[in-house]
Amino acid sequence: MEKLKVLILAAGKSTRMKSKYAKVLHRAGGRTLVDHVVRTARGLSGDIVVVVGHSAEQVKASVSEVTFVDQKEQIGTGHAVLAAREVFSGYTGQVLVMPGDVPMITAATLEAFLQFHSDIGFRASVLTADIDNPHGYGRIVRRNNNEVEAIVEDRDANPDVLKIREINSGIYLFDAAVLFESLSKIRNDNAQREYYLTDVIGILAGQKEKVGAFKVRSAEEILGINTRQELAAVDRVMRRRKCESLMTDGVTIVDPQTTYIDDTVQIGADSVVYPSVQIYGQTVIGEDATIHSFSRISNSKIGTKSVVLEGCIVVDSTIGDDVSIGPYAHLRMGTTLGDTARVGNFVEIKKSAIGAGTKSMHLAYLGDATIGKNVNVGAGVITCNYDGVNKHATVIEDGAFVGTDSQLIAPVRIGKDAYVAAGSSITDDVPPESLAIARGKQVNKEGWVRARRKK
Ligand code: UD1
Ligand code: CA
Repeated sequence: MEKLKVLILAAGKSTRMKSKYAKVLHRAGGRTLVDHVVRTARGLSGDIVVVVGHSAEQVKASVSEVTFVDQKEQIGTGHAVLAAREVFSGYTGQVLVMPGDVPMITAATLEAFLQFHSDIGFRASVLTADIDNPHGYGRIVRRNNNEVEAIVEDRDANPDVLKIREINSGIYLFDAAVLFESLSKIRNDNAQREYYLTDVIGILAGQKEKVGAFKVRSAEEILGINTRQELAAVDRVMRRRKCESLMTDGVTIVDPQTTYIDDTVQIGADSVVYPSVQIYGQTVIGEDATIHSFSRISNSKIGTKSVVLEGCIVVDSTIGDDVSIGPYAHLRMGTTLGDTARVGNFVEIKKSAIGAGTKSMHLAYLGDATIGKNVNVGAGVITCNYDGVNKHATVIEDGAFVGTDSQLIAPVRIGKDAYVAAGSSITDDVPPESLAIARGKQVNKEGWVRARRKK
């Protein structure tokens, strides 16, 4: 038997989302809807075709290792399948057709569906579910022998059909040859003036072909996303799934309800995530790490045993092992922190490399800086990296001590083991092992207050 091929429909607009972007580009659990579908389909077949149209370039960029087909005009799901006719020519195996907006379907369910379809030898099968509120979905009309007679769209249904609670998931298995044959017969004489893929089912049933319907146990899996409300509902389910899988793998999630972790994130065992934390993108967190409340971490790496205290924002940064940051620290644009470094309250670090054991505990701004090992950056230290036109670099070598409230006016270099006195405005390089003092000299006027009082 020929290997299974998959056809994913992702050309449609986003009318009900009121979005200028294609619906399948919206994200749930950190991935685009179509990416979820493609990833799940990959578990069954290496041969995936995606029909694109609306926002085609962005849709293409959001998935990988598939073949694309263009649907020039988006005039219905049947028309979308027809757009792929060429790539299926000569193919006589099975096609699994899936919409790009049903992101929660699992590979296990699809496998059971495939089994059902081939066991009984149907020419076409549809995956269905019983749901409480079937509004908006196509309804499954069955015949006495339990085969399917037709699928009727919500907008085209009469009151009797509207009462049916068994709905079409939009996922089907077809004999490829039979599918394309029947598609040539569909018309657009319906409420939406579209060419419906669902009409193929009625056409086949009318030709006395066997059409099966396989009901999923968990209707949640086939929720299609048509509105922002549905997007939020699916996102919630995906977040719950992600937290559950992390907990299964040994991560403590104190309050899964308020924890937002993208599907793409990895966290090592025995790490603890406190309530109201957001972890997004390609973030990788090691073992025994702790992420406290109200922190947001995106596309960053955090080492073993590191602690992110409350209220931190960490974006595109790499943090070593045994590091402590926060509360209220902001790290961004390729910042790296060496092992055991400490970054404290209200410290912002941009595009800087901070060496192992270095501390910056309070109220600092470090931008475009390269800071060595075991440096002490005092409270309120600012790298003045921007002259209004260009950004300039600051270098602080190993073991240096930068006193409180100093400004380092870049480009500037503080040598190894050098000291900068508190309150200095440093404009020139400081040689290694020397002390730089760059501030107004203090003058004490003794008796000044008494003299003024007399006046
Ligand atoms: C479709 C089904 C409906 C089913 C529901 C399940 C039809 C006619 N109806 O309705 O029975 O209950 O899915 O979620 O098929 N698309 C294209 N090109 C087009 C139109 C759509 O590629 O011209 C794609 C969309 O991007 C989307 C998918 O097909 O990923 C489904 O389209 P959508 O408009 O959401 O169909 P529904 O109205 O939900
Ligand atoms: Ca839909």
